[in-house]
Amino acid sequence: MRSGADVLIIHASRHGHSGRIAERIAERLQAVGADAEIADVRHQPDVTAHDRTAVVVIGSIHAGTHAEELLSWLQCWRHSLTSTPLAVVSVSLKATSERPADRAEVGRYVAALQDAAGGTAAIAEPLAGALQYSQYAWITRRMLRKIAEQAGLSTDLSRDTDYCDWAQVDRIAQGVAGLAGCATSEAGALVSAAASARAAAPSETTSVRATRSCRARRRGSSSTSRCPANRGIAPSVKTTKRR
Ligand SMILES: Cc1cc2nc3c(=O)[nH]c(=O)nc-3n(C[C@H](O)[C@H](O)[C@H](O)COP(=O)(O)O)c2cc1C
Repeated sequence: MRSGADVLIIHASRHGHSGRIAERIAERLQAVGADAEIADVRHQPDVTAHDRTAVVVIGSIHAGTHAEELLSWLQCWRHSLTSTPLAVVSVSLKATSERPADRAEVGRYVAALQDAAGGTAAIAEPLAGALQYSQYAWITRRMLRKIAEQAGLSTDLSRDTDYCDWAQVDRIAQGVAGLAGCATSEAGALVSAAASARAAAPSETTSVRATRSCRARRRGSSSTSRCPANRGIAPSVKTTKRR
């Protein structure tokens, strides 16, 4: 049964890993009756945040920062996003590390995404990325192997290695289902588990605020369905609508 929830999952994947995370979250949301639309902001800069039940932002880290296109999109839609149930996920290889300095850095990645989105994300989490040597140009492959060696990750150029915790992705999807008001019995699990973890360790990067129910389609404050900064530019939306 459809829940009436309309969730946008936006990413700016360079080599496809964030795109796969988006697909997984979409599948889980569809399983609980939500409509989930996936958009790669680099190809669909005019995709709208207006009138969504919830928005999920997935940003991968390259050279210490999230994609400029994603940050610009967040800047455009910041006002709408502060009144929309929101989850932000920062994907990086540093998230595989237990070293305090790396954990602090990953915390900054998540905070940067949270800040760009207006600081109201109910779910804000780091996720470990992938080493996709098969996708990289020669120079990138060499560079990443050096980084991987220092980090104790795979240096085998003949295969890709996925460090993502897919169970964590599923928990994030459950949390988003809760935010979108299509709660399953497990939907609140992420919220309560992360809230307890946060109470126990306030410096942890995971943060989840109170679940908001928004079963009905929300009305945004903007009368336009396009980014206010892009008004007047013809939309070039090639959206994958998943039903
Ligand atoms: C050129 C390049 C630079 C990267 N820089 C960083 C970095 O500064 N910090 C980090 O933790 N991970 C870094 N990574 C790892 C990516 O965040 C990781 O591979 C992620 O899974 C990429 O997701 P995507 O394919 O969706 O873009 C880098 C990867 C590449 C290819």
